[in-house]
Amino acid sequence: MDTLPEARAIRAMHADDLSSVKKVLKNYLGEWMGGPALYSQERGHPRLRMRHMPFRIGEAERDAWMLCMSGALEEVVEDASLRAQLHQSFFKLADWVRNDDGNPHDANHR
Ligand code: HEM
Repeated sequence: MDTLPEARAIRAMHADDLSSVKKVLKNYLGEWMGGPALYSQERGHPRLRMRHMPFRIGEAERDAWMLCMSGALEEVVEDASLRAQLHQSFFKLADWVRNDDGNPHDANHR
């Protein structure tokens, strides 16, 4: 996120120092993958959509986030089919976090 020009807008949503949010994300992802519940112990229920509401997240922001995550997956996940599976799951989550007008997940709440 620090280096990709495509991620400049989402990088700007975050604090200059990423160290604390990196740790939170690491704990969250560990728990999401079935590891110890380190995130919930510290932060409670994830409420990911609610926690992202302060930031405007549309398709462009989602795609920039996915680009960063795809790079990370390329770096750390050797197995191509596992990588593809994770990519798909992340995409669903990233699309669900989207809070612009076009999110079909909101259609039933209007
Ligand atoms: C779709 C594009 C996304 C954008 C632009 C985005 C951006 C952000 C921003 C700006 C924060 C706040 C950072 C801070 O507190 O300094 C945040 C927090 C967080 N994001 Fe995202 N995010 C996105 C998608 C996701 C997805 C898909 C996940 C999960 C896989 C995720 C997981 C988290 C977590 C765990 C936190 C910390 C929540 C907490 O405070 O407990 N984000 N995100």
